[in-house]
Amino acid sequence: MRICVFGAKPHDERTLSEAAGERHALRFLAPPLDHLTARLAEHAEAACIFVNDEADEAALRVLSEGGVRLLLLRCSGYNNVDLEAAARLGIAVARVPAYSPHAVAEHALALLLTLNRKTHRAHARVREGNFALDGLEGWDIHGKTAGIIGTGSIGSCAAQIFAGLGCRVLATDPAPSDALAGLARYVSFAELMSESDVISLHCPLTPDTHHLIDAGALALTKRGVTLINTSRGGLVDTRAVIAALKSEHLGALGLDVYEEEADMFFEDLSGHVLQDDVFARLLTFPNVLVTGHQGFFTREALRAIAETTIANATAFEEEGAPRHPVTAD
Ligand code: NAI
Repeated sequence: MRICVFGAKPHDERTLSEAAGERHALRFLAPPLDHLTARLAEHAEAACIFVNDEADEAALRVLSEGGVRLLLLRCSGYNNVDLEAAARLGIAVARVPAYSPHAVAEHALALLLTLNRKTHRAHARVREGNFALDGLEGWDIHGKTAGIIGTGSIGSCAAQIFAGLGCRVLATDPAPSDALAGLARYVSFAELMSESDVISLHCPLTPDTHHLIDAGALALTKRGVTLINTSRGGLVDTRAVIAALKSEHLGALGLDVYEEEADMFFEDLSGHVLQDDVFARLLTFPNVLVTGHQGFFTREALRAIAETTIANATAFEEEGAPRHPVTAD
């Protein structure tokens, strides 16, 4: 099958080529998919995209006119795909439902530990010969309450990690997992928000969860709470968290995702002037840590993403449907 890979980075080329072998013909393109770049997939049967590509109706229509019948998401979230338009246009959509949930859950922990023990600041100080401890005080995670919002594959790993650290784990999910019995207690969203010392987001971005963490939700939380978002930027109302940081109600914020990340993340913009004033404000807080959507970025996860993506393509070719389809409900 001819597959056009949009927004391809060196790690995509390496891992997808290894997984595809001689079975599929891959064409790697630097630009992400949108309605203008979609034309580049002409004569390919499949287009492969990542989290910030725009598979809206306009882009899907151009893909379909060019002959694309399969959209391969090399990620698990699919909030950037108009599934109804894809169905209307006869484009099957496939995703990688779980690659390494550990990778993302462990990154959430990395953000928390860095914010709490300030290892990034300590490292910079020690390199300058400054061994003073002022400002580096943290707190024991053991014995605190961790709230997990969304206990699918990643949230379940996060719940296990927090339980392993000796936390009381609260969770909220419309589809509770039996596997977490004895490890986490399911409570209402309001109870989780008001009882937790650390809140970690692991639910998908949908119209219902957009700005799930807004001013009202933050008002429920304990003063000094730490919020970690490794899921999708749109879950958090950034202006509301900035207000909570300014009032010192929010104790710390760790983000691997940002609601307006699409124009910035995954690119080296170090020589450019930052145009997003809200993002620039976030970076001024000493208790905010932002990484550029790297939760998935481990060796194991990359290999699993490539293998599942190629398995989706092979199944579509051989059986008429991808192994892990996504459909509009
Ligand atoms: P999953 O589908 O296994 O689990 C999501 C869970 O969220 C489900 O159990 C679902 O019932 C629950 N949920 C839905 N609406 C909810 C709500 N309103 N409140 C609480 N829970 C709700 O997904 P998985 O694999 O665990 O991924 C979670 C999210 O992590 C993805 O949607 C994606 O946005 C993000 N992600 C981020 C990555 C990164 O690199 N930072 C990499 C992979 C995923």
